[in-house]
Amino acid sequence: MTNTKKIYLAPLEGVTDSIFRKTFAKYYGGIDKYYTPFISPNSTFKFTTREFKDINPDNNDINTTVPQLLTNNAEHFLWAVHEISALGFKEINFNLGCPSGTVVAKKKGSGLLYYPEDLDNMLYEVFSGLKDDVAISIKTRLGKVEPEEFYEILDIYNKYPISELTIHPRVQKDFYREPIHPEFFEYAIEHANAPLVFNGEIKTISNIENTFRKYPSINALMIGRGLIANPSLAFEYKESLAVNSLDLAKFKSFHDDLLSQYTAILSGEKPVLHRMKEFWVYWECNFPEQDKIIKKIRKSNRIEEYKSYMSSLI
Ligand SMILES: Cc1cc2nc3c(=O)[nH]c(=O)nc-3n(C[C@H](O)[C@H](O)[C@H](O)COP(=O)(O)O)c2cc1C
Repeated sequence: MTNTKKIYLAPLEGVTDSIFRKTFAKYYGGIDKYYTPFISPNSTFKFTTREFKDINPDNNDINTTVPQLLTNNAEHFLWAVHEISALGFKEINFNLGCPSGTVVAKKKGSGLLYYPEDLDNMLYEVFSGLKDDVAISIKTRLGKVEPEEFYEILDIYNKYPISELTIHPRVQKDFYREPIHPEFFEYAIEHANAPLVFNGEIKTISNIENTFRKYPSINALMIGRGLIANPSLAFEYKESLAVNSLDLAKFKSFHDDLLSQYTAILSGEKPVLHRMKEFWVYWECNFPEQDKIIKKIRKSNRIEEYKSYMSSLI
């Protein structure tokens, strides 16, 4: 039996770039939509080279990739929507969840949630000014300081034709570690107009199954760290496969493919190793008995050194 509920890959800045997303799809798949890390449109009305590379249709499947925008300016947002929809993308996501201090200080990401009037004005301008035939979805936290802020925020979201509302049920000051507040997701199930997507702390097939069982009205989950740590999670869920430990041969091919692509595009060994080490933050939990080698991998300064530790691991 195959499962028909949807799984989305969450955006992780510095981790889930177009190379990762494409390579993930090649080796594992099981993902209905791949969200890009945020792009920050601004008064230059230009994407940076790095931003454009990440959404370039040559490097992405326009049907399953959802570019994400981070801004508090409707004009900048609408400019980027126009440019991105002209490339063929069907959906664009608005980041209202980023908890980073520098982002929040600029009243962006979850920082904008603290100013409900500004949020409402921005959404009004975006939806009344939207000329392109593209869906606008939102990824949000519950608020900035207290989860109760969410009641007013949801009332605002309910005024607009948001195609999908992904809720990460934490507030800004919770960052990524404090316990989530599922009761506010339950509140959203009762009161939201937009279709909902749950995001947060899903790591296993039983987490996926239990979440869909607990919230039968939702059709999709967004998973970040759990999918990076265990890239076969979505595929195994979709195909109702028995839960296996990581297939090391396949993981090695996936790893080696990523390494060779980053080696080809990044100049110098340091940036390549930096990139690979970002993944190891999530991968290391698969090797609980091998902490000494993992430590060496994470400390290696040369690619040859890194590769030799890798080959003693797998
Ligand atoms: C290193 C890192 C970078 C992230 N970058 C983004 C981002 O660019 N846009 C965004 O909406 N969320 C971002 N997130 C949040 C994730 O998309 C996701 O909401 C969060 O990790 C919780 O889901 P998870 O428990 O399944 O990982 C980031 C999270 C981490 C840890």
